[in-house]
Amino acid sequence: MPTPSTRPRSVQFAPDFAWGVATSSYQIEGGSSPDLRGESVWDSFCRKPGAVFENHHGGVACDHYNRYAEDVRILKAMGVKNYRLSIMWPRVMKEGTGQVNAAGLAFYDRLIDCLLEHGITPWVTLFHWEYPLALYNRGGWLNRDSAEWFGQYATAVVERLSDRVTNWMTINEPQVFLQLGHADGKHAPGVQLPLRETLLASHNALRAHGRGVQAIRAAAKRPATVGWAPVGHVSYPIDNDPANVDAARAATFAITQKQLWNNTWFADPVCLGCYPEDGLRLYGSEVPSHPVADMDLINQKLDFYGVNIYSGACVQAAPAGSATPWQSVAAPQGHGRNTMDWLLAPDALRYGPRFLWERYRLPIIITENGTCSTDWVDLDGRMLDLQRIDYTRRYLLALADAVDDGTNVKGYFHWSFLDNFEWAEGYKQRFGMVHVNYATQRRTPKLSAWWYRRVMQSRGASLTEPVLLDANAYAPQQEHADVVR
Ligand code: FCB
Repeated sequence: MPTPSTRPRSVQFAPDFAWGVATSSYQIEGGSSPDLRGESVWDSFCRKPGAVFENHHGGVACDHYNRYAEDVRILKAMGVKNYRLSIMWPRVMKEGTGQVNAAGLAFYDRLIDCLLEHGITPWVTLFHWEYPLALYNRGGWLNRDSAEWFGQYATAVVERLSDRVTNWMTINEPQVFLQLGHADGKHAPGVQLPLRETLLASHNALRAHGRGVQAIRAAAKRPATVGWAPVGHVSYPIDNDPANVDAARAATFAITQKQLWNNTWFADPVCLGCYPEDGLRLYGSEVPSHPVADMDLINQKLDFYGVNIYSGACVQAAPAGSATPWQSVAAPQGHGRNTMDWLLAPDALRYGPRFLWERYRLPIIITENGTCSTDWVDLDGRMLDLQRIDYTRRYLLALADAVDDGTNVKGYFHWSFLDNFEWAEGYKQRFGMVHVNYATQRRTPKLSAWWYRRVMQSRGASLTEPVLLDANAYAPQQEHADVVR
C-alpha cells in the first residue's frame, strides 16, 4: 500500500471549485405520515423484521422535514456554500405517477427558498433510492414504463423548482440499489433476482436516467447543469510508476464478475452510448435485448460526472502472461478501516477522478466522500472526531494531487452534513459532520464541521496545517452558541 504523500507542498483549489456537504431525503427527512407522502420501497423494507439493524427505519430520522430551518442555519454557520440534497419521489407523487402531492412539493419549495436566503446553492438529486412502492407493485425497475414514470416525476419537480435550482443530478449510485437491492437482497426492495433480471432492471434505470436528463433540459426555466452520481469503483496503483498506473486504470474499467459492482456497465452507455465489450462477453445471453433507440435515450449529453468515492483497491502491474494486466496488493495487517470495515484509501480520490476524466472527458464532481464512526458527544459537550478530520484531510490532499495531475475536478461534497439513517445499518453508523441525538433531535457540530469550514474558506490551503483540537480556533464562539442550543 502506498504511504500518503509527505512531500512539502501548498494546496489551493480554484476559486470556482464547489465546496459542499451532502444528504439524501429518506436518510434525514422524516415527515412520513400518509397525509404528507406516499411510501417507497425503503418504507416497506424497513418493516421486514431483521432487514435493518435493530429494525430501525427512516420514519422520523433527523426530523429535517420540521427542522430544516435550524439545519440551514447550521450549514450557514459552517460556511457551506453548496448543499447536495435529494427529492423523495413518493413525496412529490404519492403513487409515483399521476397526481402531484401539493404538500410534498411545497416542502421542497420552502427548503430551497431557505437555502437561497442563506446564500447556499442547492444541488438536487432526483433519485436517491426511494422508488415509489405503488410503482414497485407494478413491476418496479423491471417494468419498461419506469423510464417514463421517472420522466413525469422529474418534469413535475423541475417545473416547480428550476426557477431557483440550476444544478441537477438524475440518479444516485445505480450499482448500489441494483446490486444490493435487487441481487443481494440487503437493501430495498430486498429481492434476489437472477443476473438476467438485474441487467434488465439496470437497463431500465439507465433509460430513466436518460429520460430524466431530457425532462430537466425540456422543463428547466434557467440553464441547467446536469450530471449523475454513480459509485466510483476505484483501483489505484501502489505507486506512480506508469506500468502500475496503467494496471490500475485497466482494473478500474474492467468487468470481471457476473454482478454489477463496476463502473463501465453504467457509465459507458451513459457517456459513450454503448455497453462495454468485456461486459457483453461476460454476461453473454443474460443481457436483455433492446431497441437500438434505447442507447440514444441513455446517452444524453451531461455537464458533469458526479461520483461517490469512499474507498478503493490497491493494485500493481501483473507479470507478463497473467490473466489480467493487474494484480491485487493486499492491505498491510491492521491497515486503517472505518466502522463499516471500509479500508482507508486516499489515493482512490487521486486516481478515480483522473481515470474517469480521461475516459469520459466530463468535469468531475465528487458528489460523496466521507467516513463513519459510532461516536458520541463527550461529557464536556464536544464531539472530537479526529479520524473523520484525518480521513478527509488525506482524501482532499489526494484530490489536490489529482488536480496537479491535470484532472478536471470541479467540486467536492462531503458525506454527510448530519448523522443520518444509514440504510441497512440504521442509526448505528454516523457519517455526519454534525452529530444528531435521535432521542432529543439535538444537533452538535463535531470538530470536523468547524475544521471543514476553514478548509472551504481557505480553498484547501489549510489542509497542510496541523489539526487543532479546539473548535474555537476554527470558528468564533458566538457561532457555536448560535447553533448549539
Ligand atoms: C452511499 C450512499 C449514501 C450513504 C453513503 C455512506 O453509498 O449514496 O446514501 O449511505 O454511501
